[in-house]
Amino acid sequence: MKVMVVGGGGREHAIIKSLKKNPAITELYALPGNGGIASDATCVNIGAKDIDAVVSFAKENQIDFAVVAPDDPLVLGMVDALEACEIPCFGPNKNAAIIEGSKVYSKNLMKQYDIPTAAYEVFHNMEEALTYLDTAPIPTVIKADGLALGKGVVIATERQQAKDAVRSMMEDKIFGDSGNNIVVEEFLEGPEVSVLAFTDGIAMKPMVSSMDHKRALDGDQGLNTGGMGTVAPNPYYTPEVAAECMDKIFIPTMKALNQEGRTFKGCLYFGLMITKDGPKVIEYNCRFGDPETQVVLPLLESDLFEIMQATSKETLSDIDVKFKNGSACCVVMASNGYPSTYETGLEITIPSDLEAEVFVAGAKLDNGILKTSGGRVLGVSAVGETLEETIEKAYEQTKRVNFDNAYYRTDIGKKALQVESEV
Ligand code: AMP
Ligand code: GLY
Repeated sequence: MKVMVVGGGGREHAIIKSLKKNPAITELYALPGNGGIASDATCVNIGAKDIDAVVSFAKENQIDFAVVAPDDPLVLGMVDALEACEIPCFGPNKNAAIIEGSKVYSKNLMKQYDIPTAAYEVFHNMEEALTYLDTAPIPTVIKADGLALGKGVVIATERQQAKDAVRSMMEDKIFGDSGNNIVVEEFLEGPEVSVLAFTDGIAMKPMVSSMDHKRALDGDQGLNTGGMGTVAPNPYYTPEVAAECMDKIFIPTMKALNQEGRTFKGCLYFGLMITKDGPKVIEYNCRFGDPETQVVLPLLESDLFEIMQATSKETLSDIDVKFKNGSACCVVMASNGYPSTYETGLEITIPSDLEAEVFVAGAKLDNGILKTSGGRVLGVSAVGETLEETIEKAYEQTKRVNFDNAYYRTDIGKKALQVESEV
């Protein structure tokens, strides 16, 4: 079978490496992929948002199955366009991807269906938002309605900071039309857990939980990034919390979307906060998380391609989605200076006997030599029995991967280890 994966980051590399385990796949394409993905799939230079070009490629090459991984093409309706040409897909239709595409939509959905989330107000008008912020409790959270490359959330610890955030979104339009409407939300406290779940609108099969590390520096300091590392499972996600999430969040979300005529098929990502009042939804994503996928898929025991096909055919109930018992840890190696300014074009060396998987995010091939081309360059993912040994292994192997000015956090999984010893 001919399969194509739309996207070109570490997450897509992890998806491709998992798909490759299925011998039925004879040809695997990545659009656009990257220099590292090129070792595992044929990279085609078509941008992940270029719906027309992606559809033409799929038709011309008689693609049997498409995986649309990033948020932008999903929210723009790439799955609808491919399905219109009778190409089966893994990923939600545009009308279901709105759960990530519009924070106003997702907040209103949660309110209507009693799904636990932070209290909030929606504003379409800047003056009204500013007036509200004169008396709103501080800290508060300001969110741009639409997609903003993961940067559309401001936690304001001072009133003036909250107002500045509103102005920059609604007046200066730093996120373009994504800031036409905003959500002002109650500040919640508690540990965060990411749960990705396969769903076809009938069955809901959560994957192993994980913990992201979003800040650039050790001790959760520094700027927000696309994610500097992950561990799975997340020790805060106890069996009791999992049962509560299934009952109060996961199934109700699936049913709510069905009820609204927006059946979700694909990977639904629940960004959760475990508050003292129980788990609450911080955000929904309509796709696999990055770098969560880089720890979740290495632990998947079942066949990813079979699950994806079943999700598309609405037969997910018949499939066993099983995970290994151990742990996984992914350390992201970035170019020093990320997420601000950084150098590119630096040669990357990866030993052939590395005892971990490397998922490449920002690299290109230059005359056959792998060189850095982005801020987050790659993730080194190790799998092991205990979390402690897995973290140690991930760091040992990370030290063996080299490029000039490489930077990585040295405390990925540290908090998880502390919690694990407490529970
Ligand atoms: P998001 O882009 O929605 O994932 O938000 C980015 C980060 O902001 C989350 O991972 C949380 O750490 C934080 N955050 C978002 N909403 C809230 C909230 N209501 N209270 C506290 N922190 C939040
Ligand atoms: N790791 C967060 C995300 O994928 O949105």
